Amino acid sequence: MHTPILAPSILAANHARLADGLAIIADDGLDWVHLDIMDGHFVPNFSFGPQTVADLRKLNSKLFFDTHLMLDNPHQYVEAFAKAGSQQITIHVEPDYDIGATLAHIRELGCRCGLVLNPDTPADAIVPWIDQLDMVLAMTVWPGFGGQSFIESSLPKLSRLAELRDENGGRYRIQVDGGINAETGLLCRRAGADTFVAGTAYFKAKNRKAFRQSLEN
Ligand code: DX5
Ligand code: ZN
Repeated sequence: MHTPILAPSILAANHARLADGLAIIADDGLDWVHLDIMDGHFVPNFSFGPQTVADLRKLNSKLFFDTHLMLDNPHQYVEAFAKAGSQQITIHVEPDYDIGATLAHIRELGCRCGLVLNPDTPADAIVPWIDQLDMVLAMTVWPGFGGQSFIESSLPKLSRLAELRDENGGRYRIQVDGGINAETGLLCRRAGADTFVAGTAYFKAKNRKAFRQSLEN
């Protein structure tokens, strides 16, 4: 349904030289960069905030900034990330806040919006907001750290997300994030995913072009 997209996660780049990470992605001719935002509470780690996103935006006006908020209070920060240059903001379904209002707010701010599911959250959790979604991100590791191993039991969820989309006339992309390499990416693609976040496998690849082709072709 959707053409496949590789969205490298800059979390796996050198954080003292994020500009270099961004340049690698741009030089490879890719269209998307995935920005992982962590609050040290919803997930047990920190990454970077709106100021960093704004500064990266000043360096590159072309890349699509796909921003994954791993926050307990995402509704309090969507505006800051939209102003910083995010073009898509995805928010987790697990914390307690007004999800529908926050998705609507992201849209009003001129961004695409989506929901994120942790590995043990069922696909059907998105149903109340299914008409509002441009993206559903199914985590294929527990969020918080790059470089973890792919959780294979996430695969049936991808098929279910595709089924739900077809049954409900939805239009969302299906994104996977965590432990994605050429092999696990292919498994996800067969199960219905079309958007592939890769941090470690992308930045450590000996041949990034071949890696990209393995996911996109
Ligand atoms: C996990 C992040 C991921 C992570 C993926 O908390 O949401 O985007 O950077 O990293 P790899 O590809 O190294 O598993
Ligand atoms: Zn992510």
